[in-house]
Formats: sequence, C-alpha cells, structure tokens
Amino acid sequence: MAFSSHTFGFAIVLLCLFLSSFSVVISRSSRSSSQMSPGFYRRSCPRLKRIVRNGMQQAVAKEPRLGASVLRLFFHDCFVNGCDGSILLDDTPSFTGEKNAFPNRNSARGFEVIDKIKTDVEAACPGTVSCADILALATRVGVRQLGGPSWRLRLGRRDARTASQSDANRDLPSPRSNLSTLITSFGKKGLTARDMTALSGAHTIGKSQCRAFRTHIYNETNIDPSFAQARRANCPFTGGDSNLANLDRFTPNRFDNGYYKNLVVDKGLLHSDQELFNGGSQDSLVRRYSNRKNLFFFHFSVAMKKMSNIGPLTGTNGEIRTNCRLVN
Ligand code: HEM
Ligand SMILES: *[C@@H]1O[C@H](CO)[C@@H](O)[C@H](O)[C@H]1NC(C)=O
Ligand SMILES: *[C@@H]1O[C@H](CO)[C@@H](O)[C@H](O)[C@H]1NC(C)=O
Repeated sequence: MAFSSHTFGFAIVLLCLFLSSFSVVISRSSRSSSQMSPGFYRRSCPRLKRIVRNGMQQAVAKEPRLGASVLRLFFHDCFVNGCDGSILLDDTPSFTGEKNAFPNRNSARGFEVIDKIKTDVEAACPGTVSCADILALATRVGVRQLGGPSWRLRLGRRDARTASQSDANRDLPSPRSNLSTLITSFGKKGLTARDMTALSGAHTIGKSQCRAFRTHIYNETNIDPSFAQARRANCPFTGGDSNLANLDRFTPNRFDNGYYKNLVVDKGLLHSDQELFNGGSQDSLVRRYSNRKNLFFFHFSVAMKKMSNIGPLTGTNGEIRTNCRLVN
C-alpha cells in the first residue's frame, strides 16, 4: 500500500513535469507565431508592399539575376540562426558578420537591392519595418516576377543584433555535399527531404562560379559527357575560378521546372544538384517535378513558408535596424 501510493505520487510528479514542459513549448511557439501575420504592417506601413515591388521590379528589369541573388540571400539568412537579417550585416573592425563565411564570400550578392528598398521604406515609415521582413518580402516578389509561385508570408520578424560567421560555415550546405548530408542539414532546420528537393529547385534561376562545379565537370562520371565538355569551355581546370555558368542551362531567368528537367538527363551543374537524381531516395520526386511544374510550385511554396518561419525574433527581441548593414 505504502509502496503503491509512493509510486502514484511519483507518477503525478512526472505527469506535472511533462505537462508543464509541454505548456512551455506551446506558449513559446504561439507567442512568436501570434505576433507574426501577413498584415503586420498594414497600419504602420501601408505602402510597404508597393515599395518592395517597385524596388524589385527596377532591380530585375536592370538585371534579372538579381531576383536569384536575393532569393539566395534569404536562404542564407534563414539557415543561420533564423530569418533575422543577420546576413545583411557588414564586417567592421569590431564586428564579424556572415558575409565572409565561405559560402558567402565573393559569392553572396544583391545587398544593394535590399539597401535601396530599405532607404525607400525608411522614408515612408521610419523605424518600423525590419530588414529581415524586407528580405523575406523581396524574395517572394522576385520569384513571382521571374514566373514562379507565391506563398502566404507572415511578417513581424525583427533584426538580429548579432551574426555568426562560424554558424554560417557550419549550417550552409556545400556544393560538395552528398544526398545524405543535404537531407541531414535541412533536417536540422526542420525541413524534410521533400522540402530540400523542392527548395533546391531555386537553382532554376541564377548562376554559379566555376570553382563550385569544377570537380563535377572534370572528375565525376554521373554527368552527361557533352554537357561536361560544354561547361569546361568556360571553366578551365586551373584558373577562371569566378567564371559564371547558368544553373539552369536553358531558362536561367525563368522560374520554372527546368532545373529538374536537367537533372533527369544528368545535366545538373553542381555536384549537390545531381545528388538529387543519382539513384537515391529523391529520384522519383525529381522525375515528377520534371514533368509537373505545378507540383513543384506547390511543394516549393510549402517549403518556402516553412523556411520563412525558421527562428524569427519577435516581440521585444532584436531590433528594427535603421541601416540593414549596421546594428543600431
Ligand atoms: C541544397 C543545398 C544547396 C547548395 C549546396 C547550394 C549551393 C549553391 C552554390 C554553390 C551556388 C553558386 C554560388 C556561386 O558560385 O557564387 C548557388 C547559387 C544559388 N543558390 Fe543555392 N545551394 C543550395 C540550396 C539552395 C536553396 C535552398 C536556395 C533557395 C531556396 C538556393 C538558391 C540559390 C540561387 C537562387 C542561386 C543563384 C544566385 C545568383 O545567381 O546570384 N540554393 N547555390
Ligand atoms: C556523405 O558525406 C559524409 C560527409 O562527407 C560522409 O561521412 C558520408 O559517409 C557520405 N555518405 C555517403 C552515403 O556517401
Ligand atoms: C580531379 O582528380 C585528380 C586525380 O584524382 C586530382 O588530382 C584533381 O585535383 C581533381 N580535380 C578536381 C578539380 O577536383
């Protein structure tokens, strides 16, 4: 009797511990999500969406690749401690940002587009809209302008006061990654293998430098020989590291499913691209995306929504930066 009531009391204690930790988890997630909504700036900055649209329209008209560059900036922002604008911070003598992490150095671009939009937004609604939200909105607009899908985007992110070069080096995937490493690294951000495969379809726009695909076109066998040959013309075995090639060989300025059409004929540009169609778990999905643009668009939108919600700063965390390159 004494034993069983003791056991009973113990079970109650365990149950309470379980319930209280559960409610902490619930209140934490509902706290940040209840503070974010698509209409977050409806009253405080009614012109926001128009300003972002105009800024992206100008940029993409001048250079369509900028739509791709901004999309990549957003990915590199979200994967490093959440979508908090940390990638936008410049290095200073007393501050090390993420711009010189290996995946970003001499590669991440499009910062001026965000600066220009931020200047216009500050003129209309000073001190109101975060750089993190401007980047999220500009990304959505850019994808749409190049013919891609749209998605429901919650706003209300705030800007980080910190950045981490070492976390950027750790969390941003390398083009040398194999499939299991890619799945694991997206998994660490709460994204599934399907999300990873759909998000990689972002490589249907934009360009890569020779140094990122040299090994794939010279030393690997899972590549169409004539495609490898063609790419070698502008990417020598030594030198020419920053020479550019389109990630999608046919429609680099069109957000479509061309990326997957390339993969199924062994014409992926990066080693990591071709890993998605190389006899592994993602082959059948890649094949379906190559035949069904709408399915790709649907899965891409779902995954972008998830990626946009990684680790936002809300409430009184972080700040609204005045200049996206500098902590206030
Ligand atoms: C799956 C793992 C990924 C790897 C290993 C990877 C790697 C790369 C590399 C090496 C480049 C070329 C950079 C350069 O040469 O300067 C690139 C470009 C690009 N990436 Fe990814 N990426 C990945 C996923 C993504 C995702 C998830 C997105 C967005 C949702 C994305 C968007 C882009 C875009 C749009 C470009 C072209 C940028 C431009 O032209 O300025 N990538 N990526
Ligand atoms: C993938 O790459 C990782 C890291 O380089 C390595 O440990 C692992 O064995 C590789 N997996 C496969 C299936 O090749
Ligand atoms: C290709 O492989 C050769 C022989 O293993 C090696 O010496 C060379 O560095 C590799 N080149 C690239 C670009 O990976």
